Amino acid sequence: MNYGYFDDVEKEYVITTPKTPLPWINYLGCENFFSLISNTGGGYSFYKDAKLLRLTRYRYNNTPLDNNGRYYYIKENDTIWNPGWQPTQTELDSYSCHHGLGYTKMSGQKNNLDASVTAFVPIGDNCEINKVTLKNNGTESKTFSLFSYVEFCLWNAVDDMTNFQRNYSTGEVEVEDSCIYHKTEYRERRNHYAVYSVNAPVTGFDTDRESFLGTYGSPAKPEAIINGSSKDSIASGWSPIGSFHVSITLEPGEEKTYIFLLGYIENKEEEKWESFGVINKKPARELLSKYQTVSQVDDALAALRTHWDRLLSRFTVETADEKLCRMVNIWNQYQCMVTFNMSRSASYYESGTGRGMGFRDSCQDLLGFVHLIPESARQRILDIAATQFENGSAYHQYQPLTKKGNADIGSGFNDDPLWLIAGTAAYIKETGDYGILDESVAFDNDLSKAESLLEHLRRSFKFTTTNRGPHNLPLIGRADWNDCLNLNCFSKVPDESFQTSGPSEGPVAESLFIAGMYVKYGNDFNAILNHLGHIDEANTVNANVAAMYDSVLKSGWDGEWFLRAYDAASEKVGSNECEEGKIFIEPQGFCVMAGIGVKEGLAAKALVSVEKYLDTQYGIVLLQPTYSKYYLNLGEISTYPPGYKENGGIFCHNNPWISIAETVLGHGNRAFDVYKKTCPAYLEDISDIHRTEPYVYSQMIAGIDAPHHGEAKNSWLTGTAAWTFTNVSQHILGIRPDFAGLMIDPCIPSTTKKLKITRVFRNAQYNIIIKNPNGVEKGISALSVDGKLIDGNIIPFVEGQKSYDVVAFMGN
Ligand code: BGC
Repeated sequence: MNYGYFDDVEKEYVITTPKTPLPWINYLGCENFFSLISNTGGGYSFYKDAKLLRLTRYRYNNTPLDNNGRYYYIKENDTIWNPGWQPTQTELDSYSCHHGLGYTKMSGQKNNLDASVTAFVPIGDNCEINKVTLKNNGTESKTFSLFSYVEFCLWNAVDDMTNFQRNYSTGEVEVEDSCIYHKTEYRERRNHYAVYSVNAPVTGFDTDRESFLGTYGSPAKPEAIINGSSKDSIASGWSPIGSFHVSITLEPGEEKTYIFLLGYIENKEEEKWESFGVINKKPARELLSKYQTVSQVDDALAALRTHWDRLLSRFTVETADEKLCRMVNIWNQYQCMVTFNMSRSASYYESGTGRGMGFRDSCQDLLGFVHLIPESARQRILDIAATQFENGSAYHQYQPLTKKGNADIGSGFNDDPLWLIAGTAAYIKETGDYGILDESVAFDNDLSKAESLLEHLRRSFKFTTTNRGPHNLPLIGRADWNDCLNLNCFSKVPDESFQTSGPSEGPVAESLFIAGMYVKYGNDFNAILNHLGHIDEANTVNANVAAMYDSVLKSGWDGEWFLRAYDAASEKVGSNECEEGKIFIEPQGFCVMAGIGVKEGLAAKALVSVEKYLDTQYGIVLLQPTYSKYYLNLGEISTYPPGYKENGGIFCHNNPWISIAETVLGHGNRAFDVYKKTCPAYLEDISDIHRTEPYVYSQMIAGIDAPHHGEAKNSWLTGTAAWTFTNVSQHILGIRPDFAGLMIDPCIPSTTKKLKITRVFRNAQYNIIIKNPNGVEKGISALSVDGKLIDGNIIPFVEGQKSYDVVAFMGN
């Protein structure tokens, strides 16, 4: 069942009913000011940090669903309604919500009155603009009231929902003309406030929640609106809000537009102690003056659209499959940018108060946005690397504002170090900028301990080399990619005969997943060292990688698939010998992606097993059979009911690993089949089962063992965005940045006969046509660049050449 449709020309998803199975949201903002906005106007805004500088209040896990937002009420006679349906839920005569790139437009119609709200954050300014247009479509003149409503958050979102003994006495506002200044905490911190305004004279206002809603009132039926007039309340403590009352008359066919603005103002550091509680309104007035007229706002919206068009045009595909095109050209890349901005902080499932930036998460996200914003990717790598310890391990998370490692969570996730190599290698392949390796980067944010980024990579690689267990496989520490596989939580002291040569973060549990990573990214590290002329070191890396490859074959093969791990007692995890959890997805994906077992025929066997034991109609589950009870030696993974999350859910993040693995073996039909199963655009028709937004990936879809198999959870902020884009752009469509240049290596369904791709690579434009006349799945038989045939399938990068016309013929 569908709740809307894709408009590929406008690059929008258009929702046609407010009653979507879950709130379907969008993100506004691409620099410092951000808002979440649902299809009914719910959501909240923050400046830079969703925990510390939250402007408006949102109630997670509350009823009715999607509790609080920026709301507009229309009161015409006794009827009160919202153009976005919430919160009054008054039935509308028509409704639509267009989620576009960085903007959302909601429209409702009731009794021949059209109301639309276009919300966006303009480039270069710290505010959310709401352009509210009202049109009388009837034959008689209409007089009605427009009320607006936002509820302010007292900045720190955690204190805001916990420290009520203080909060109820701190709220302060100031009202001047059509502006409400929210200045709670200004006397203490004296550096920031919010401004909420409308560009028209108002009939009234409210800033005190209780006055506006009534003591036992709610946003669904605010007392002030029912009575038809604001109370001009001035909040003093309790809960400050912003609400305006505008009285409007529209003749038949007449239309009026109002600009509402919610802005964040921060004083300059030197002004901080000058004001002593008196806010400096000058910057607010300057901000407001930029968005007073409809044409100013339309220009800002047009500039935003140009920004996104330009960004996403860096990779485009044209082919007969429109779902593939819309995901690649629009939504998958858009989601990658959202993960760049948000990491895992603020979504409808991440409260914005918990997690900082993940070391592993950020390195993976980078794979999906490095081609769009290479400069920012560079900075991100340097920020991440600065949270690494001297021994190569790393803080698992760091705080976005301070960029310091999070000591509460600490380190010990033994895959983290290798992700730094993965991210840096991806950046160098994309940009050719080996200079990044010379940047001096602190260890543990301590500049006295700074070393080159190259040295950081050395420590990363060395960490795994020296932290190996009894089978010569990498120690898992607290966990690897699978945060919930905590194999050392029940620890047995290692046998005395066994000694690790370096510091260990846990006893002897070992990970086949990290082994796969070590081989895959060790090969990249080897290539980097060779390029730099560090030949001896490169040879050592190569030898270590080869030894790990052998260890995987010797101790990591279970007969039909790769083992997942050895636990703290050196018992197998993910083996046919296990009662439950016999086969896991992660090592099959990562070992095959690394090329392990390809020539021995084991890789093909492993992928057959994945299809046989783990595949379902909605995607590949993480493991089978699921754990039916809690296992002390496995940890958190077995705390989930069967079919959810890491206990056999379809963890969308690792499905592309299998798809990429299939391309390693040349299986284009199967790779695409795996791609399609979790790809949101292909799931649009089952939105009633899938439930989350059909334009973005979710972290997880309930597995075969769950009662609601096929139901997705945790949309938007997931490494799935980056990995699926890597898969589809680099491995299926096969346009793969490599150290030497751009590689053309498609692995596609045999029915695909032609692809047209444009790609910006190292500031040059590549226009690529791929022809597949004989319907093969992989292999290039001829490749021409600017009309000349070249050997191999890597287009050598020529410094200064700005455009390349490429024609590739597939064949054997
Ligand atoms: C985390 C990832 C982790 C994944 C699997 C996600 O929630 O953000 O870091 O790899 O779960 O456990």
